[in-house]
Parts: sequence; structure tokens; C-alpha cells
Amino acid sequence: MASNVILIGFMGVGKTEVGKCLAGELGFKYIDTDAMIEADEGKSINRIFSENGEESFREMESRVLERLAGSKKCVISTGGGIVLRPENVKKMKKLGWLILLWSDPEVIYQRTKKSDIRPLLNVADPKKKILEILEFRTPIYRSIADLEIDTSVLSPEEACNKITAFLRKEK
Ligand code: S3P
Repeated sequence: MASNVILIGFMGVGKTEVGKCLAGELGFKYIDTDAMIEADEGKSINRIFSENGEESFREMESRVLERLAGSKKCVISTGGGIVLRPENVKKMKKLGWLILLWSDPEVIYQRTKKSDIRPLLNVADPKKKILEILEFRTPIYRSIADLEIDTSVLSPEEACNKITAFLRKEK
């Protein structure tokens, strides 16, 4: 089995819940790149976006990945936009399996509308924004993923089981 499992995918697809479940199943450490950034900066993602801007946040994501180089036995849950920089994709590929979690846009909307922690969706028409970002990112997500799991109808445990089955088969 590769050293680590990296969960990629859009906001609201369940990377955190599935990641925690997976870490428990595999006996791996759970790491969340957004949480690392918030701890480093001492402020929320919302504040980082409003005070430092999105570009600075993307820099922070790259630096966090740099620090994770050499990690072993970790499940790493990433922010939805981490795939935007090709250098990040290279770093993640070196770290381990890239598992894409995927959900229907309507499901993403229903899940993300409950909170205001995602600056990119704090807009007048979040549904439209979700579709716009998805259209741009979907080809990137799909081209780099080793496995794709549709979490629209699966519970985190079911998604987790599918991923562990894949990892056992591939090891
Ligand atoms: C972002 C996703 C967020 C967070 C930031 C930007 C994105 O993480 O990194 O708000 O660009 O898709 P989640 O995917 O965990 O919500």
C-alpha cells in the first residue's frame, strides 16, 4: 500500500468525515490541510481569504504540502482548490493514492448551505457558483484521481469501505 491516502474533491463532498473514518480503519493519522493552515495563521479560512486574499491562501496550501513530504501512514484531507496548482498535484502524487470524492451539485449545495465557513460560496447565488467552479475543476480532479467515489448517496462509512477495499486490492 502507498504511504498515504489523499482525499481530493469539491467542497461539501465529505472529505473530512470520510477521512476520519478511513484513518480509523487503516490505523493512520488524520491530517486536514485547511486545519493546518488555520493553526499556522491563527485565524479562520474566511479571515485568511478576506484579509490575505485567495492567492496567499493558495501559497499557504503549497507550503503545507511541502511540509507533509516524507509523511507516512496518513490520511490527508485537502481543501477543494488544492488541485489548482500543478506543483501541488505533483507533491500529492508523490505522497500516495489520490482518492476523489464526488457528489451531485444539488447535494453539494444542500450540504454547504448549512454553514458560512467557505468564502468562495458566500455569494448571492451559491448554486451558480458551485456549477461554475465544478465545470472548471472537474477535468482536473478526474485526470489526477486514482479512484473516484460518488458520495451523493453513500454514508461516510460506505465510502470509507469502498476505499479500503480498493487499497487492499492494490497493495
Ligand atoms: C476551497 C475549499 C475549502 C477551503 C477554502 C477553499 C476551494 O476546503 O480550502 O474555502 O477552493 O474549494 P473544503 O473543500 O474542505 O471545504
